[in-house]
Amino acid sequence: MYSFNNDYSEGAYPGILEKLMETNLIQTVGYGLDEYCKEAEKLILKHIEKEDSHVHFISGGTQANLLAISSFIKPYEAVITVTTGHINVHETGSIEGTGHKILTKYASDGKVTPEIIDALMEENTTEHMVKPALIYISDSTEVGTIYTKSELEELRHSADKHGLILFMDGARLGAALTADANDLTMADIAALTDAFYIGGTKNGALFGEALVINNERLNEDFRYMEKQKGAMLAKGRMLGIQFMELFKDNVFYDLAAHANKCAAIIKDALLDKDIEFKYEPESNQLFPIFTYKDIDKLSKDYLFSIDSKVDEEHACVRIVTSWATKESAVEEFVKAIKEL
Ligand SMILES: Cc1ncc(COP(=O)(O)O)c(C=O)c1O
Repeated sequence: MYSFNNDYSEGAYPGILEKLMETNLIQTVGYGLDEYCKEAEKLILKHIEKEDSHVHFISGGTQANLLAISSFIKPYEAVITVTTGHINVHETGSIEGTGHKILTKYASDGKVTPEIIDALMEENTTEHMVKPALIYISDSTEVGTIYTKSELEELRHSADKHGLILFMDGARLGAALTADANDLTMADIAALTDAFYIGGTKNGALFGEALVINNERLNEDFRYMEKQKGAMLAKGRMLGIQFMELFKDNVFYDLAAHANKCAAIIKDALLDKDIEFKYEPESNQLFPIFTYKDIDKLSKDYLFSIDSKVDEEHACVRIVTSWATKESAVEEFVKAIKEL
């Protein structure tokens, strides 16, 4: 069995493990105040061309979303996103658990638009309702699509028009920024959002996300929140060391580009067979529509998940490649697709 189930099925990029070994016996202070975290923050700030932003290393995506959103907004305030938004469907109500309602609209491409924001603002206008305060977007999105620079600029404009915080979940930011159709840089994202995070877990780290806060007001007392919610690791150095390695040379982008390259080979094979996609195949998550018969055939040797039923004979499946996907496995998978 070879798994195309996710991009966190493997351990870690070997350079990270080597760095962890190399630094293993060096003593440091704890809780993210060590030299490695400081160096990783410096590298990230230089990369995003924003010396005045702040970086907090968090262990996972749900934790990053929960911490950021619950500390950025007031008790009665709400979050705007699309129905497919990760916080809406795959985080066990963690945001709602902190008292914040999530307001959603459906988008066929998984992307928030100014029209969605306007509509939700119009539906929530008085103190008898929740007050929209933050826009949550993911790049790449949960359905594998990516935001263009002009779309992000429009969202910034909309956020400013309505006085909203713009927060980007970058669990798969590497895959977004190395996609063929991408025209954004991480510096653009830092300039256009109030906060975003750079995903490590799904791009070669053992675990970890780097939350970047660009709006000074939102950074106030953030470390108190981090500690109170149990997210401040005594051995925070584990995160700093990993991000130091990811931001050395071009590692972060090289790892993500590999995942996209493998996905593109699979995508081309599917297109050759005239297989349709539920969502535009733009990054390392593909959503082709197969017959149940073909799903059974492929499932004998490959692991992937069913996204949704299309009709009695067809379902949309989710195929994901990673920084560590073997090219030989991709070749074999392509052969199997050709034989469908
Ligand atoms: C877009 C997005 N955000 C957040 C997460 C949550 O990350 P974690 O599983 O590390 O909590 C995921 C996980 O799949 C994700 O796809």
